[in-house]
Amino acid sequence: MIELHGVNLVYPNNVHALHDIDLHIEKGGFVFLVGATGSGKTSLLKLIYREEIPTTGEIFVDTHDLSQLNRSRIPYLRRKIGVVFQDFKLLPYKTIYENIAYVLEVTGAASHDIQKRVKKVLEMVSLTEKSEMLPGELSGGEQQRASIARALANRPLILLADEPTGNLDPDTSWELVQLLDRVNTQGTTVIVATHNKSIVDAMKKRVVVLNEGRIAYDEEKASYIPNRQGAPELI
Ligand SMILES: Nc1ncnc2c1ncn2[C@@H]1O[C@H](COP(=O)(O)OP(=O)(O)O)[C@@H](O)[C@H]1O
Ligand SMILES: [Mg+2]
Repeated sequence: MIELHGVNLVYPNNVHALHDIDLHIEKGGFVFLVGATGSGKTSLLKLIYREEIPTTGEIFVDTHDLSQLNRSRIPYLRRKIGVVFQDFKLLPYKTIYENIAYVLEVTGAASHDIQKRVKKVLEMVSLTEKSEMLPGELSGGEQQRASIARALANRPLILLADEPTGNLDPDTSWELVQLLDRVNTQGTTVIVATHNKSIVDAMKKRVVVLNEGRIAYDEEKASYIPNRQGAPELI
């Protein structure tokens, strides 16, 4: 589903954000991407949805070879990838319903299909009752659930979440990760960049550790700080 071979990312200011990344994530996988601030988590996610282009190396996402991807094909790639951010990025003057409908409208979907799909994703995140509210009228956890609903609207193959619990309290964070786990169980490949040690440890998923732009560890059913000699200091 996602493959990176020998990927390096050097930003225009010469920051070498990612070094020699080789990573394979199979369809239906669930991966926690962890590492200190500045270790390259966001950069790695941006490469996958082609917000950034690698300086060297190859990236394949589903059927797309990103190095060969024509600009005009980027929207098709992006429809296969839902993205969730720490600060939700909901449009403040649109209702929750409108925020979700909007991403379907831009694909040219028929209005009755849009209605059906928005209803469905709102049910999935238990926000049916709040669909006519504005984002600012919802709690942080509800706003993040709304942003997950929006990310799922196009039935993406992949869901990328960049520190999705960064602004949430522990109980709400835990509920949110349970929701991401349910989404994964229904077949979506999920990658979560996070600092949340207790959640990573409790979920026992694959953990990929970035340390100064390099993959330091990559293990199945792992915990936040791999229990091994020489494990990097993460925070
Ligand atoms: N757009 C950018 N331009 C230049 N440098 C950047 C840019 N984005 C991130 N960086 C740098 O790349 C490194 C990795 O950052 P980032 O991927 O945001 O890490 P993380 O998400 O793990 O905190 C950092 O040194 C950061 O300052
Ligand atoms: Mg980041």
